[in-house]
Amino acid sequence: MPKAPVLVTRRIPSAALARLQEACDVDVHEQGDLGHHDLIARVRGKHGLLSVVTDTIDRAVLEAGGDLKIVSTIAVGYNNIDIAAARERGVIVTNTPDVLTEAAADLTWALILGMTRRIVEGDRLVRAGRWRGFALEFMLGTDLRNKQLGIVGFGRIGRAVAARAPAFGMRVAFASRSAQSSPLGESMPLDRLLATSDVVTLHCPLNAETKHLINQATLARMKRGAYLVNTSRGPVVDEAALVWALANRLIAGAALDVYEREPAIHEGLAALENVVLSPHLGSSTIETRTTMIQLAVDNVVAVLSGQPALTPI
Ligand code: DGY
Repeated sequence: MPKAPVLVTRRIPSAALARLQEACDVDVHEQGDLGHHDLIARVRGKHGLLSVVTDTIDRAVLEAGGDLKIVSTIAVGYNNIDIAAARERGVIVTNTPDVLTEAAADLTWALILGMTRRIVEGDRLVRAGRWRGFALEFMLGTDLRNKQLGIVGFGRIGRAVAARAPAFGMRVAFASRSAQSSPLGESMPLDRLLATSDVVTLHCPLNAETKHLINQATLARMKRGAYLVNTSRGPVVDEAALVWALANRLIAGAALDVYEREPAIHEGLAALENVVLSPHLGSSTIETRTTMIQLAVDNVVAVLSGQPALTPI
C-alpha cells in the first residue's frame, strides 16, 4: 500500500523525520518560511500537513489541500489556523499542549527578572565600555518581593507562571474567562488586575476578543511603575500604544517575546532602554522543541494510520 503523502513546512530533526518517513511519504520544505503561495501549491494531494506557527493555514490552504486529514501544528497556539474551515472539511487539527508549559513559564520569569533587574540594559552598557564601576545608586531595579503579579489568562502556562511566584515572594492575581478560583491566586476582573498589579503578564490565546486587549485605554489603567510582559501572541498588545505608554512613563517597562508583525517590531520599541525584546523563544529549549516535534509527528502518524489523534484541538 502506498504511504500517505505529508507536507512538512520546516526542517525537523532527523529522528523525528525518520519516524515520519517510516509511515508516510514526506515532502519537506527545507529552508525558511514556505510562504502562502507555495504552501497552497505544495499542500495539493497531501493527506497530512505538519506546520509551524508562521504558516497561515486559512480556507484557501484547506481548499487546496482537499485530501488533508490532519493539520498538526508544532505549537500550543493555533490562531494561525482556520479551525472552523478545518472542521467543515473534516480535517483534524492537533497542537502540542502541556509539553511546552514549563519552558514557556520559565521564559516568562526570565523576562520578568531581566526587566525588573535591568539585566539586558546593563549588558548593553558593559559591552559598550560605558560602565564606570560600582556605585550605590547605579542602575537600580525593582524588588519583586511583596508585589503583585497579575496574570491575564489562567490556562496551563498562566498557572505554571503563578506556581513559580511564591519563590520570588509575589502574590498572584489572575483574570480569566474560565477559571473562577484557584489556590494559586486571587481571581479578579481585568480592570482591577491592571490597576493593582506591579507586573502584568499575558497568557491568553489570540482571538477576536483578545486582539489589542492591551491598548491605550488598558495601559492607562495600569499602575505607574508597573511592568508588562507578553509571551502569548504579539497582536494581544497594540505595539504603538505600548510605545506611547512607555515613552510617556505611564508604565515602567515591558518585556516582549512576541510581536504584532514578526519578525518586524514597532520602530519605537528598539529605541527604548526600559524594554526587553526576545525573539519568540517561549518554547525554545532543546528538550522542549524535541518533544513538541515528536508529539506533532505522532499526531500525524496516528491519524493517517486510522488511530485517534493524541492532542486534538
Ligand atoms: C506556541 O507553541 O504557540 C509557540 O508560540 C510557538 O512555539
